[in-house]
Amino acid sequence: MLSSVAVTPTGGTDRTMAHFTKPEEGSWTEHFGLATEPVNYDDSTSPQHYALEQEAIFKKTWLNVGRVEQLPKNGSYFTKELDGANTSVVLVRDMAGEVRAFQNMCRHRGNKLVWNDYPGEEVSGTCRQFTCKYHGWRYGLEGQLTFVQQEDEFFALDKDDYGLMAVRVEVWEGFIFVNFDPEAAPLKDYLGRLGEGLEGYPFHLMTQKHTYRAEIGANWKLFIDAFMEFYHAPVLHAKQATDEESRKLQGYGFEALAYDVDGPHSMVSSWGGMSPPKDLGMVKPIERVLRSGLFGVWDRPDVGELPEGLNPARHPAWGEDSFLFFPNFTLLIWMPNWYLTYHYWPTSYNTHIFECSLYFVPPTNAYERLQQELAVVTFKEYALQDGNTLEATQTMIESGAVKEFPLCDQEVLLRHLHTTARGYVADHERGRPGSPVQISAAS
Ligand code: FES
Ligand SMILES: [Fe+2]
Repeated sequence: MLSSVAVTPTGGTDRTMAHFTKPEEGSWTEHFGLATEPVNYDDSTSPQHYALEQEAIFKKTWLNVGRVEQLPKNGSYFTKELDGANTSVVLVRDMAGEVRAFQNMCRHRGNKLVWNDYPGEEVSGTCRQFTCKYHGWRYGLEGQLTFVQQEDEFFALDKDDYGLMAVRVEVWEGFIFVNFDPEAAPLKDYLGRLGEGLEGYPFHLMTQKHTYRAEIGANWKLFIDAFMEFYHAPVLHAKQATDEESRKLQGYGFEALAYDVDGPHSMVSSWGGMSPPKDLGMVKPIERVLRSGLFGVWDRPDVGELPEGLNPARHPAWGEDSFLFFPNFTLLIWMPNWYLTYHYWPTSYNTHIFECSLYFVPPTNAYERLQQELAVVTFKEYALQDGNTLEATQTMIESGAVKEFPLCDQEVLLRHLHTTARGYVADHERGRPGSPVQISAAS
């Protein structure tokens, strides 16, 4: 048996004191009870499989749709297009200050309720009520139907029976999640040990937000694959470093500090060392001037103690932890006290919308703003390099010429993701929708 992932000095396991080290023998993959065979990528090339994922995954799991800062006051709202769950929702802060979620649909004849110029575009704003564009029915922010045009023309219509359809909504650490499954476990239970380990992180202090959005011609899981392994980093991102540094990095390869999985969720902990770099010759002149780069601003803000779930290996060279909360929410926390989120919103079996938001403590002067902007544009350059392979991969796996691919131990989280997603679909097909997928470290 492999070594336990969370052994305290007394020999028991303790969620708050998890210290992860590479298994002394074997591999991470075996440690997590995953098979080591090549992985079949039919789950990323089939419209039929995507239809099953919609039912089994996106209509059954907690989906992060935004943050509480997007609803700053009573009456604030925003919409979210969720093709994965085949619907659109509206999130609103009601007059009592509660966050609510509704199907974005009028109860009269089903018109989309909240949109501006184009029904497929997400919108946000502030209002006292929602009015349908079609026949003028109105709804209060608690979802109640308040006005029906020519109400007398209807047949015993009781407005109390035609409120907006509520969607389950819960907030964790300021992140707003929805779930279309009335039977699903509460959000905190769903996020499990990895979520618990992040509680208390000062997300609320990091309100300076920069967002990128891209339409990607690849299955939603392929971009997660690209961000959950760094095996590619010394090769795909070779040009980001100076030539000499790049040669060195390719020689070393990449080995993560730690991996962890808990149920459907996973994380990878990785090296830093670029914030600031040990040798200023490693980085570009603008990075030296602004003291900033991919890893963020070198002069990190004081945000107090960080939660126990970060840097699980307690490694002095720790740089960042990337958490994937299944199915499509990545939370990436950087050592220099900033974070970013990725969302991968499927729009078909071979397309998705990629969203990335970078969050910083608000700058206090122009120089700090420029430091953050450099981190933001540097990230974009890397993300473009990551995104560049996706359509090339999708088109070739769709050829079907090869169906199974060998994944190495540094690609363990890809294996975990595809195994988990297939597990949800298999449970759904067996008539056990939403049963929890249990993958966790051997102990
Ligand atoms: S569809 Fe909304 S008022 Fe008729
Ligand atoms: Fe990358």
